[in-house]
Amino acid sequence: MCSLVFLCAQKVVSDHSSIRKALDFIPKELYPVLFKAAFVDKKTLVLHDLVHRWPFSVLSFQKLLQNTGGPDSQEKPSKLCVQTVILGVIAYLNESLKLGDQQHNARRQQLRLLDMTGLQDGGIDPEAVSLWSQTVTLAKACIEASKRQCEEAKCAWKRRKGMGNTLVPAPAPVPEDQMYVEVRMDLFVNSTSAGVLKEALQVSTSSPLRLKCRDFRAEELPIRSTVELLELLDSGSVRQVDLRFNNLGLPGLNMLLPHMAKFTGLLSLKLPYNNIDVRRLSAEMDKGLQSFATELGRLSSLKELNLGSSRLSGRLRQLLSGLRNPLESLELAFCYLLPSDMSYLSESIHVSSLKKLDLSGNNLSDLLQHPFQRLLSQASSTLLYLDIMECKLTDQHLGVILPSLCLCKKLRYLGIYWNPVSCQGLKTLLLHTIPLLDLQLVIYPYPVDCYDDSLPRHPSMTHYRHGIFRHEKLAELAGDLHLMLAEAQRTDMIWTSELYKENELEYLNL
Ligand SMILES: *[C@@H]1O[C@H](CO)[C@@H](O)[C@H](O)[C@H]1NC(C)=O
Ligand SMILES: *[C@@H]1O[C@H](CO)[C@@H](O)[C@H](O)[C@H]1NC(C)=O
Ligand SMILES: *[C@@H]1O[C@H](CO)[C@@H](O)[C@H](O)[C@H]1NC(C)=O
Repeated sequence: MCSLVFLCAQKVVSDHSSIRKALDFIPKELYPVLFKAAFVDKKTLVLHDLVHRWPFSVLSFQKLLQNTGGPDSQEKPSKLCVQTVILGVIAYLNESLKLGDQQHNARRQQLRLLDMTGLQDGGIDPEAVSLWSQTVTLAKACIEASKRQCEEAKCAWKRRKGMGNTLVPAPAPVPEDQMYVEVRMDLFVNSTSAGVLKEALQVSTSSPLRLKCRDFRAEELPIRSTVELLELLDSGSVRQVDLRFNNLGLPGLNMLLPHMAKFTGLLSLKLPYNNIDVRRLSAEMDKGLQSFATELGRLSSLKELNLGSSRLSGRLRQLLSGLRNPLESLELAFCYLLPSDMSYLSESIHVSSLKKLDLSGNNLSDLLQHPFQRLLSQASSTLLYLDIMECKLTDQHLGVILPSLCLCKKLRYLGIYWNPVSCQGLKTLLLHTIPLLDLQLVIYPYPVDCYDDSLPRHPSMTHYRHGIFRHEKLAELAGDLHLMLAEAQRTDMIWTSELYKENELEYLNL
């Protein structure tokens, strides 16, 4: 619900010309709520003016959009508004550059930090801003600002020289106390944008707009570019490195990992789809595996590791052997795990710290069933998030793991999508999970008794996508589940067969 203040703010930002005249007299305490109102209502001219005169040292999107009493914005951030804010900051810097040092010191030099982290990635929605395009926009802005600063410095030098003072030295390097705004942001880069980002990071340390990366994500980027970019990132600010679809293999990863040891605050390392394959290892590759483990061990803050879609069969103990501190999130989807891997996990240092566990795509129906059950019991006191999508689990298997599952009293998320269970199996599961009071979201599969007769016994993802299902039966099931939740007074819990990726389900937001 909107507060009265927010409703008033919406009224105020609706008239650009009057707010413009009034800005000098508006108490600075009102800037945050006006910012949010202008952002939500897409009043870009007002937004620009507000940023241009921002009276605080920090402008944080996430804080402003969440804590200022307006609607809880689930909406993806508008591209137009985000660009307006960036332009507002540049205009602000432009002016200070033009004014030169003394005058600008007289001007209220407030804004120091533009915090753009935590903005939802708009993905491919054309109205919203994607992380990829935001990265490009800021990289270009940083390069532009740097160029402009050089030109201003040259002009100032020429002006002084023109006044007949031939002894003035060449333009001095940028002074320490020079006006600049730090931009804290998440970067998402691929081979198309690697060049511009590299240039930006190179000039960033002396540019009026300084990029500080929090989460770094690269997709389909060659090793060399990845190394160059990692080398340019600030060692203290990086929280997550996510290198996916890069097909680096073990040799490639072994080239990259040493460049990450400098990130002392690195909490999360995601390396899915990098094609580590431990089958038929030569002696040399075995050494490679060992050095990978050693390098992982040098990441002393690491809490989350994703090695999804690599073949790790039987080698988990070796891979994680270098880690001295327990992980809190482990994502091992489609890793062809063996019972020995599962047993290792359940007796490892990690098991009693795990908050998030993703074992999707491992066949938990057979030999892994009992080790998995043990693992679940061991992890039950901490586990918040469990994904066991596509694990070949039938009603019978669910029945076996239910007692361990019910021990996970803190569980918030359960993903069991694409397992061959029946409607009855799901209802049993629902009844047993009612006492899990923190459980908010369950993603359930289309049950086997909702398959169309034309569907094979073990349908593939393609069958799923084409949706050959008895839709009336699915709707009936959804109705039944909802009724059961209502009867148990647990309508706070969502049961859905829609796969959707929610930001807050990331370990770092748990
Ligand atoms: C900053 O100044 C440059 C050079 O005068 C100009 O081209 C650019 O449009 C200005 N940017 C903004 C956002 O005012
Ligand atoms: C990089 O990502 C952008 C935005 O998604 C896309 O338009 C571009 O084609 C990608 N480049 C490559 C080489 O895939
Ligand atoms: C699961 O793995 C076992 C062997 O470990 C195998 O017999 C069984 O067929 C697998 N199940 C499926 C559905 O692939």
